[in-house]
Amino acid sequence: MSPFQLTRTLPEDATEAALRADVQGGLTAQPKTLPPKWFYDAYGSELFEQITELPEYYPTRAEREILLARSAEIASATGARTLVELGSGSSDKTRHLLDELPGLHTYVPVDVSESALTQAGRALVAERPSLSVHALIADFTARLALPPTPGPRLVAFLGGTIGNLLPAERARFLASVRALLAPGDALLLGTDLVKDESELVAAYDDAAGVTADFNKNVLTVVNRELGADFDPEAFDHVALWDAEREWIEMRLRSRTVQTVKIPAVDLAVDFGAGEELRTEVSAKFREAGVRDELGTAGLELTHWWTDTRGRFALSLSTAR
Ligand SMILES: C[S@@+](CC[C@H](N)C(=O)[O-])C[C@H]1O[C@@H](n2cnc3c(N)ncnc32)[C@H](O)[C@@H]1O
Repeated sequence: MSPFQLTRTLPEDATEAALRADVQGGLTAQPKTLPPKWFYDAYGSELFEQITELPEYYPTRAEREILLARSAEIASATGARTLVELGSGSSDKTRHLLDELPGLHTYVPVDVSESALTQAGRALVAERPSLSVHALIADFTARLALPPTPGPRLVAFLGGTIGNLLPAERARFLASVRALLAPGDALLLGTDLVKDESELVAAYDDAAGVTADFNKNVLTVVNRELGADFDPEAFDHVALWDAEREWIEMRLRSRTVQTVKIPAVDLAVDFGAGEELRTEVSAKFREAGVRDELGTAGLELTHWWTDTRGRFALSLSTAR
């Protein structure tokens, strides 16, 4: 086997059918919504990398701090021979973990972004010739078929990406991760924590406007893939904190009354002036809630680590 393998688990036409279904369902709903996975074409993945370096976007730095401090402990607690990473993106922070896992045989990055997987996978095998990298283009909310690799397996889900799933989706997702784990396997989960509203909102509404570009990129994706005629400049980026549900919402607010045509799904979508389209939810967590949600999925939280400022947490759990 070559040290870098890329497998597409979903045919391209299935991805397009999924986009059509999400656009048709989400833009005819009240309020209008689109799922965040459609941000991540090659340009969206690149914009996300820029976001991770913004002064306001603390989650990446906070999680990196924990990984630097705790990767050796994670390695000895898990003895992982295979690292599966869901929503791996650039795999940049993952390198701290890879550095500390002495017996690691295979790394399985899983992402919807082919460009991110190819770039990260090629760089990793060049840096680490003894590591086998088997990348999967897949939707982590669908049933995953993992390649047969040696155990124990550590499944990592970093970046606080779990917060992009709604509570019912999270429950289904955690149950499906639990089903992937054999005895001795573990889940390493990154969760952003509830904190001061101003710090949270700034992280999703940076002064340089990179998050605004990232948010509007979903419209460009729909234009390109479904022949729509969204004008991204006719929408404003909005980030707000929902204190009751303890999540950030990103929205796109229509500046005017307008109708957008989406030929591939035979839709003409009317927007009122000021009407909002929700593009992302990013839930923030507390330790007790994470422990409960893991428990409901049949997982037992064994370790909980935060950065020194208590902004972000990494937890390790095993199947009960
Ligand atoms: C918030 S970014 C985090 C990236 C990286 N893990 C980090 O911590 O910096 C989310 C990543 O998950 C991927 N992603 C989003 N939804 C996905 C889905 N349903 N299935 C697979 N990958 C997904 C995106 O392409 C992106 O790389």
